[in-house]
Amino acid sequence: MPDATQTPPEMPTPVMAIESSCDDTACAIVTTDGRILAETTLSQSGHVPFGGVVPEIAARAHLSALPALVRDTLAAANLQPHDLGAIAASCGPGLIGGLIVGANMGKGMAIALDRPFIAVNHIEAHALTARLPGIAPNGAPFPYLLLLVSGGHCQCIAVEGVGHYRRLGGTIDDAAGEAFDKVAKMLGLGWPGGPAVEQLAREGDPHAVALPRPLMGRAGCDFSFSGLKTAVAQKLPTEVRTALSRQQAADLAASFQQAVSDIVIDRLGHALEMMERPTTLVVAGGVAANGVLRARLREFASTHDLPFAAPPLRLCTDNAVMVAWAAIETMHARRDLGLPIPDDIAMRPRPRWPLSEMAARMTVDDTARIPAGA
Ligand code: KG4
Ligand code: ZN
Repeated sequence: MPDATQTPPEMPTPVMAIESSCDDTACAIVTTDGRILAETTLSQSGHVPFGGVVPEIAARAHLSALPALVRDTLAAANLQPHDLGAIAASCGPGLIGGLIVGANMGKGMAIALDRPFIAVNHIEAHALTARLPGIAPNGAPFPYLLLLVSGGHCQCIAVEGVGHYRRLGGTIDDAAGEAFDKVAKMLGLGWPGGPAVEQLAREGDPHAVALPRPLMGRAGCDFSFSGLKTAVAQKLPTEVRTALSRQQAADLAASFQQAVSDIVIDRLGHALEMMERPTTLVVAGGVAANGVLRARLREFASTHDLPFAAPPLRLCTDNAVMVAWAAIETMHARRDLGLPIPDDIAMRPRPRWPLSEMAARMTVDDTARIPAGA
C-alpha cells in the first residue's frame, strides 16, 4: 500500500521520449506541464517498393536513424543529456524489432544518466494526446470517447482515466487505414494509400458506385472493412485492356471513402450508447487526416452536442510527443495515488500489450506492475 505520510516525489522534467513501434522513428522532449521543447519524426521510405511496412527493414532503419535523431532533438531543445529528467519509450504494442531498438536506446540513456525509464503503451499514448495543453477545446476531461483510426488500429475506446480504458469495439479484420492502403494498391496509387485515395476521390461522385457497409446498423461498435475491400476489387476490370478511366477510378475512390465514413459514423453512434455521457469526442491516428471523415466527425459531434478534438496531424500520426505526454500523465496520476515515479528498466518490449493491463499500473508499486519477461 502507498504510504500517505510520504511527501510526493518531484516530477522529473523534462521527459525525452522515443517512438519506434512501426515505421516512424521519432524523438521528443516535453516538460511535465506539457510544453513541447523539441520534436523530430522521420517517416521511413524503405517500405515504398513493397507497398507496406516490412518489419525487418523498419527495425534496421530505426537502429540507423535513432542516435542522430536523439542528438538532433537535444540540440533543437538546446539541452544537454544531463538536463533530462526522465526517459520514456514506446514498449508495445507494435513490431517487436523496432520496439527493442527504441526501448534499448531509452534504457541505455536512462542507465547512463541515472534517470528513471518509463515504458509507454503506444495505444495509451494515442489515447491521451488530446489532453496535451491547447489541443481539446475543453482540455478533454475524463471520460471521453476516442476513435483511433490508423494503418494498424481501428477501435472505439472509452477513456475513463489515466490507466483506465474500456475498449468498446474494434475491427474484426482490417484496420481503416489498411483498407485505404489496399484500395489504393488496387487503383495503382502507391503507398501509403490514404492520402492518394482522398485526392483522387475529390474528382469523383461518392454515390456513383454501390458498395456494402459491413456491420452497419448491427449492435455494438465493431468494424469490418474486408468485405468492402473485396467489393471494390470486384468493381475492377479483370483485363488490363479494359482499365478504368480516370473518372471511373475517381468515382470508385469517392464511393469507397463515403462507405468508410458512413460505417465509422454508424459505429460511433453505437459507441456513444455504450458509455456514460462523454465530455468530448476525440479522434486520433493517420486516417484522421482524411478531410471528408473529419468533416463528418465534426458534424456528428455537433449533432450530439459534444466538443470535438482532433489533434494536429503530426500528433495524430505516430510521434514521440504523445509518448512523452503519456509518461507524464502516468507519473502525475501515480503521484496523486501516492505511488512512486515508475522505473520500468526491467520491462521487455511487448508486441501485444492490451490496454486492459494498464489499470494495474495505478494500483500496485513498480516491482509487481509489469511482468519483466512478458
Ligand atoms: O497513424 P499512422 O501514421 O500509422 C499507423 O498506422 O500507426 O497511420 C497511417 C495510415 C495509413 O494506412 C494511411 O493510408 C492512412 O493512415 N492515412 C489516410 C490519410 N492519410 C493517412 N487515410 C485516409 N485518408 C487520408 N488522408
Ligand atoms: Zn500508432
